[in-house]
Amino acid sequence: MIETVNHMRQSMDNYSKHRGVINRYREFLSVTDKTPIITLNEGNTPLIRAERLSAAISDRLDIHLKYEGLNPTGSFKDRGMTMAVSKAIEEGAKAVMCASTGNTAASAAAYAGKAGIKCVVLIPDGAIALGKLSQALIHGAHVLAIAGNFDDAFELVVSITDNYPITFVNSLNPYRIEGQTTGAFEICDSLGDAPDFHAIPVGNAGNITAYWKGYQEYQAAGCSESLPRMIGFQAAGAAPIVLGHPVKNPETFATAIRIGNPASWKRAEAAAADSNGGIWAVTDDEIREAYKMLASLEGIFVEPASAASVAGVRKLVAEGYFDSVKPRQGDRIRISCTLTGHGLKDPNAAIASVEEPTKLPADESTILETIGL
Ligand code: F0G
Repeated sequence: MIETVNHMRQSMDNYSKHRGVINRYREFLSVTDKTPIITLNEGNTPLIRAERLSAAISDRLDIHLKYEGLNPTGSFKDRGMTMAVSKAIEEGAKAVMCASTGNTAASAAAYAGKAGIKCVVLIPDGAIALGKLSQALIHGAHVLAIAGNFDDAFELVVSITDNYPITFVNSLNPYRIEGQTTGAFEICDSLGDAPDFHAIPVGNAGNITAYWKGYQEYQAAGCSESLPRMIGFQAAGAAPIVLGHPVKNPETFATAIRIGNPASWKRAEAAAADSNGGIWAVTDDEIREAYKMLASLEGIFVEPASAASVAGVRKLVAEGYFDSVKPRQGDRIRISCTLTGHGLKDPNAAIASVEEPTKLPADESTILETIGL
């Protein structure tokens, strides 16, 4: 009985504690008492110590996974969208608009629904994962699937929102980036300081920009001591920053990062350079391998783009990148990896990456024989 009561009290405590990233980190964000807070209680995602994955990759690494798939709409976008939509409402907006490879669309649709305003999303026709499309539609967004890729959609949205009364909520909206800095704050809060390295997938390059800004701000405020080296990863078929020029027809099975001309290109390069990190490309095969390792070794199902961070760490280990690095504390190098989106976003990618289920008659002896019992 007492145990039950204690348990209930603890859960009520948790219930009241986390009310979204704006409430938790408001002193770092551009909000006032007058800002209406549109929140789905995003953030507060777990930072998971990945012992089995670390052991499989290198015994010199201590990998921590920031599982952003556990945000309300299943991706990190919610951290920025709570800010963008709250500020849009404060400024009197009646509608928001974005281009998206899927997750931004899902998040914008959900927060606009919560705020009671219109949401228009432009997506590349046929190139976004099923889960994301279903989210944008069920939340009531006006979904326009254009005959073009993400970069085409993005240009159109910039032009329309520049000229018409509809608020732009892609990550060039500064409030998006501000909200996403909270991912870095949470990692510092969990670890007691910044890690040695922070690994992150790079698509339109907003998130690497936001994390770097967050780590710097937290240190400047005296909330953390150190800064991590930022290591970003693009898919090899969509790696404009690595190649040094835009990619006209980007291709990768990690559809979230199928982007040929990232909006925050320069800021991503600055984050990598200023932190003494870098940006590299990983192949679809390397991403797929990391995707399966996360699921089988750690029980964490991510969407393919998210696995680019882990694929990248593996690649750098193989290249000897960490060989001369001394851990700031302890005897292993501490790395946080942002796992940007949930695996259920893209069930087709999972099915395509594994064996089909074995079909059997409904017969016990056949089943026992098949599983070797
Ligand atoms: N991982 C996932 C799951 C994403 O959805 C995205 C971006 C990224 C990584 C890359 O983040 O763009 O800040 O560098 N998705 C955007 C979208 C483009 O429209 O949902 P980034």
